[in-house]
Amino acid sequence: MLRTLPLLLWTALGLVAAEPGYFHDIRPILQRQCQGCHQPNLKSSNLDLTTYEGLKMGGKRGPAIGLLVKYLTGEIKPQMPLGMAPLPAEQVEMVRSWATAGGLDDTPAEARETLSAGAPTVYSLPPVLTALAFSPDGKMLAVSGNREILLHTLDGSAPPKRLAGLSDNILSLAFSHDGGLLVAGGGTPARFGEIQFWDLPAARLRRSVTMTGDTVFGVSLSPDGTRVAAGCTDNTVRIVDSATGKELNKMGAHENWVLGTTFSVDGKRVVSVGRDRSAKLTDAASGAFQENVNLLRGELAAVARHPSENIVVIGGEDRIAYVYLMDRPKNMKIADDTTLVRKLERQNGVIAALAWSPDGNRIAVAGAAPEVTVYDAGTGARVTACTGHSAGIYSVAFSPDSTTLATGGFDGTVRLYDAATGALKKAFVPVPLERPASVPGGLQ
Ligand code: HEC
Repeated sequence: MLRTLPLLLWTALGLVAAEPGYFHDIRPILQRQCQGCHQPNLKSSNLDLTTYEGLKMGGKRGPAIGLLVKYLTGEIKPQMPLGMAPLPAEQVEMVRSWATAGGLDDTPAEARETLSAGAPTVYSLPPVLTALAFSPDGKMLAVSGNREILLHTLDGSAPPKRLAGLSDNILSLAFSHDGGLLVAGGGTPARFGEIQFWDLPAARLRRSVTMTGDTVFGVSLSPDGTRVAAGCTDNTVRIVDSATGKELNKMGAHENWVLGTTFSVDGKRVVSVGRDRSAKLTDAASGAFQENVNLLRGELAAVARHPSENIVVIGGEDRIAYVYLMDRPKNMKIADDTTLVRKLERQNGVIAALAWSPDGNRIAVAGAAPEVTVYDAGTGARVTACTGHSAGIYSVAFSPDSTTLATGGFDGTVRLYDAATGALKKAFVPVPLERPASVPGGLQ
C-alpha cells in the first residue's frame, strides 16, 4: 500500500533517499574500498578510480561504469574489492541505481580542483608536520607533507623525492631495517584510513591498503618487517601482512580510538595505546588480549619501545611519560603498579610524540609545548631541552646513531638538534613553497 503513494510525497517526507549521486554516494565507497589498488600510482588492470574521468574511461576492459556492479557481485571474476569482504548489498544497489541512471558526475565545481589525487601539491604555507623517520643508514629523513611524503637526503646532495599518495594526512612513518621499505599510515578524515608501502630506493608505491572509514594512527612495523600494526578509530588494532597487504588480525580490546602501537622485541606481541587511557598487550598472531600494561590515568597518545628490551614509554593527556615493563608477573593484583619502572617529569603540555634512542640511552618527549625534552632512560634525569619551535611538536625521531633528534609540528619546520646538548644543527621547511617564506630562527 505504501508503494502506491506518490513518490514525491515520500521524498518530501524524507522517507525515500534521493537518487544516489557520484560525489556524495559513489566516490566515498571507491575511496574506502577500491582506490588502494586503483590509483595513479598503482593502476590495477590499468584502472584509476580516484577520479570520475578515470572511472568513465575504465581499464583494460574499457569503460568501467557498466562493469562496476558485475565486478561487485562477482558476476565477473575476480570479485571486487579483490581479497576483501564483498560490499554490503545496499552499497551494491546504490552503485547499480547510479550506473543505471546514466552514471553521471555531480561533483560540485568548487570541489573539482582539490580532488585530483596524482597532481603535485602546491604549498603557499608550510604544512603541519605529523610524521618523521630516519632511514636506517641515517642518510635520509622522511617527512609528511600534504597528500605526500618528502624524502630528504640529509647531506642535501639531491632534491627531496616526493611520494604522492591518496591520503590527505600521513600520521606515521617507519622504515624497514634494511631500508628497502617505507611504511606510511594516515588517511582522509571521515573517509578512509590507509597504509602505504613504498619500495626504496625506487620510491615506487608497492601497495596501498585502505581500511575503516577514518584515518589510522600510530602505524608501526614489526622488527622483521613482515607485519604492520595500525591503530583505528573503530577502537581496533589491525595487523596487516607487509608482503600481501592482507589483514591478519583485528584486535578489539580497546574502548576508544587507538592512537599508538609498537611490537615487542621478538615481534610476537603488540602494545597499543589510546583514548581509553590503557596500554594493552596483545598476541599479534592470535589477536588474543593478554593484559593491561598500565594503571589507567589520562588518555594516551603515544608509545615507544626500548630498542632491545620489552620496556615501553607511554604518554598523553596527563603530560607525564611513564616507563613500564611490557609484562606483568602472573597473579599480579589489579591495582599493583610495580611494573612501572619510572615516571618522567611533567611536561608543559599534553604529550603527542615519544621516541626511544636506538642506543637505548635516551627518551625524547614532545607535544603541545613548543620544546622537546630529552631524558636519560636509565635514571629519568633530564638531559636537555630542545627549544626553538614556535608551536606544538607532533613528531620526534632519533637518528640511527642516536646523536641527532629530528622534530616537526605545527610550525611546519623540521629541526635537527644535537640530542645530547640540545644545540640546533639545522632547520628547514621540508616542502617547496610557492613563495619562499623565511624560516624563523632557521639556519638554511
Ligand atoms: C587489493 C587490490 C584491489 C582492490 C582493493 C580492488 N581491486 Fe579492482 N582490480 C584489481 C585487480 C588486480 C584487477 C584485475 C583483475 C583481473 O582481471 O584479473 C582489478 C580489476 C577491476 C576491474 C576491471 C577493470 C578492467 O577494465 O580490467 C574493475 C571494474 C574493478 N577492478 C573495480 C574495483 C572496484 C569497484 C573496487 C572497490 C569496490 C576494486 N576494484 C577494488 C585489484 C583490486
